Amino acid sequence: MNSTAPTALCTDAAVRVRAADRTEISIGSTSPFLRVVEPRGRIGPADTRRWFRRNADGLVALLREHAAVLIRGFGIDSPRRFEQALAEVKPLHAMSTYLMLEPGRETLPGTRTVWCTNRNIRTGGGLALTGFHTENYYSPQVPSFVAFACLSRPWLGGETAVVRMDRVFAQLDADLQERLRDGPFLASVIAVEEAARRQRLSPAVLRQRLDAWGLPRVERDGIDYLATFKPAVIEHPADGRPSLLANVSAEVPGLDAFIGRRLQPHFSRRRWAIHRKLWRSSRCRRALSWLTDPRGSLCRARASVPPAAPARGETSQPLAARLARAFVHRIDVEQLAEAMMHHCVAVRWRRGDVLLFDNFRTTHAGMPGFGPRELAVQMYDPAIIRAHDTRVARVPPP
Ligand SMILES: [Fe+2]
Repeated sequence: MNSTAPTALCTDAAVRVRAADRTEISIGSTSPFLRVVEPRGRIGPADTRRWFRRNADGLVALLREHAAVLIRGFGIDSPRRFEQALAEVKPLHAMSTYLMLEPGRETLPGTRTVWCTNRNIRTGGGLALTGFHTENYYSPQVPSFVAFACLSRPWLGGETAVVRMDRVFAQLDADLQERLRDGPFLASVIAVEEAARRQRLSPAVLRQRLDAWGLPRVERDGIDYLATFKPAVIEHPADGRPSLLANVSAEVPGLDAFIGRRLQPHFSRRRWAIHRKLWRSSRCRRALSWLTDPRGSLCRARASVPPAAPARGETSQPLAARLARAFVHRIDVEQLAEAMMHHCVAVRWRRGDVLLFDNFRTTHAGMPGFGPRELAVQMYDPAIIRAHDTRVARVPPP
C-alpha cells in the first residue's frame, strides 16, 4: 500500500512508503499519520548511507507532511550507524548540547550527537507509562525534530506512543482552547549557577547567552534564577497551525489516570497479568520498581521541587502560573485524554528501527513492558521558545 504522499521517496524504486499495518502498531489511531519507509530488498551499511544522502529532502518532506516516520529495515542498530546515517540528512542539524541538560542525559561513546534517552530512569518498557511530553519541555531550547533508534527491543510492550498534538488541540472545546492560549506558563525554574554547572560553563558566560537569547532571569534572595516560561500553544513553523507544546503528563494533574483507564483494554491479555497485579498494589509496585529500576527509583526518591524561592507563596505573580491553571474542570482533563488517545499511535519496536518525529506537532511516551529496551536519541534544529512568542523560530546560538 503506497502512501499518497507526494514526495520524492515514493518514486524511489528501492524503497516503499506506506501506512503502518496492524502488526507494527499496538495502539492505532482512527486517523493514522505515521508513515513507514522500508527498503524493498537487503541493504548494507554503505548503501544505507547513500540512500539517506540521496533521499534526504524527500525524507524531510515526508516528515513535515506526516509528523512521524518509521524507518524500518535499514539495520541502524548501533549509535555510530545511527549518527552516520542521519548525518546524511543535511536539512537536519543534530544537537550536541542544549541548555539545562537533564541529569542522566549523556552522549553515547564514539558519537557526538547520539544520546542515551536517560541513564537514570527507564524511559519505557518498565512497569508504568512514562508520560506524554514534548522533548525538552523544561529547557528553553526545544528540538524541532527528534529521532529514536532501537538498539535493543523489549520482550513485551515497551512501544513508543506518539500523539498528534495539532489534531488534539483542534478537537478541544473552544473554552479550553482559549484558556490554553492564555499563557505563558511557567515550565521550570533553575538557579543560573546550577544550569551553568550542568552545561560546564561559567555562570558569567551563561548569563551572557541567556541575555543574547532574550531569556529572562529573576533574582530572589540574592540568587539568580533562569525562569523558563512558555506558551502552551505554538504556531507550527511550517504552516502556522496551532499545536499544543508541553509535558502534558507531568503538568496536567490526573491526565495519566484518564489515559490509563482508556488503555485498559490494551492490557487485558494474559501476557499483562503480572503488570495488572502489580498496578493494583502500590506496595508491590514500589518494591518491583526498586528491583527493576534502582537508579530511577533513587532519582525519584531524591527528586525535589524546582528551586523554591521565586514561585512559592507568590501565586498572584505570573511566576506561579503553570499549565495546570488552564484545566479548571475534570472534564477538561478528560477531553484532553480522549483527544490524545484518538490521535495516538504506538510503534512496536524492532532492532534497527529509527522513528523520526516532529517535536512541535507531537508528544511521545514510553509504554509499559518488560525486558531489555535500549533506544538512542538524536535531536535536531533547536528553537528558543520565548514566553510571549507563539511563533517558533530557529535561533542560532550566540
Ligand atoms: Fe522523550
